[in-house]
Order: sequence, then structure tokens, then C-alpha cells
Amino acid sequence: MEAQMKNVYLLALVALAGCAEPEPPTGAQLFADNCTACHGADGSGSGWVAAGLQRKPADLTTLSARNGGVFPMERVLSSIDGFHRNPGFETAMPEFGAFFSGPMDQIELDGVMTPVPEPLLLVAEYLESLQK
Ligand code: HEC
Repeated sequence: MEAQMKNVYLLALVALAGCAEPEPPTGAQLFADNCTACHGADGSGSGWVAAGLQRKPADLTTLSARNGGVFPMERVLSSIDGFHRNPGFETAMPEFGAFFSGPMDQIELDGVMTPVPEPLLLVAEYLESLQK
């Protein structure tokens, strides 16, 4: 009987520990925490840091509109992680590659299955959801 009670306590502890585990942040949270100072809460480029920058942060709600109606997933991923940026890209924007590392997801980019760290992909998908 006593051994059984002990098991019940143990199970309860395991259940509690499971609940305490933090949820991984969503794309919206990652964006709010790391990007809004420059790009603004709505992504339009109106963050409080923006006024002090030489080049205005890009309007992240018109990425598709500026790309013939197609969300430029590859360019967005590489601009954020710093892996590849257009020549002359404003260096004020930090490179988030190391920060957004994590488990790898596979997505198709230009017909090629490509591994992308999950937090980086979550932020990019959040940006996709902001498109006007
Ligand atoms: C310190 C200010 C700053 C922060 C913080 C910042 N950015 Fe930027 N970002 C910029 C600036 C400035 C540009 C414009 C670069 C250029 O066009 O030369 C830019 C450009 C971009 C672009 C390219 C847009 C395009 O038209 O191709 C993307 C995508 C982007 N930022 C996403 C993000 C995301 C996502 C975050 C947060 C993880 C972030 N940025 C954080 C300043 C910032």
C-alpha cells in the first residue's frame, strides 16, 4: 500500500514537471522581442529606433507586394540570419543566425528541400502573415 502511494506521488511530480516546461516562443513573440524596436509593432518600419538610423528599416508588410505578389521566403530567411544579404544591405540590422538556431525544419526553396532552423522559420512565417 505504501509503495503504491509513493508511485502516485511520483506520477504527480512527473506531471507537474511536464507542465512547468516552457512553451517554445511563437513567431509573433520572437518578432515582438527582437524586431519591433526598428520595424515597429505592425512591421511597417516605424519602431522607436528607426528615426536614428541612416536607412529606414524595411516595411515588412509589403515584402510580397514588392516581389510581384510572391513572398520572397529565401531572401527573407537570408536577410534575417545574415547568411546572404544584398550588397549594400544596411548593417544596422543585426544578424540573427546564431540567435535563431534550433531544431531543423525542412522547407522547399526554389524546388530544393532545405533545412531551416525552426525559430528562424517561425519568424519568417509570421512576416508572411503580415503581408498586405
Ligand atoms: C537595429 C534595427 C533593426 C532590427 C532590430 C531588425 N531590423 Fe530588419 N532591417 C533593418 C534595416 C535598417 C533594414 C533595411 C536594410 C536595407 O534595405 O538596407 C532591415 C531589413 C530587413 C529585411 C529585408 C527586407 C527586404 O525588403 O528585403 C527583413 C526581412 C528584416 N529586416 C527582418 C527583420 C526581423 C525578422 C528582425 C527581428 C528578428 C529584424 N529585421 C530586426 C533594421 C533592423
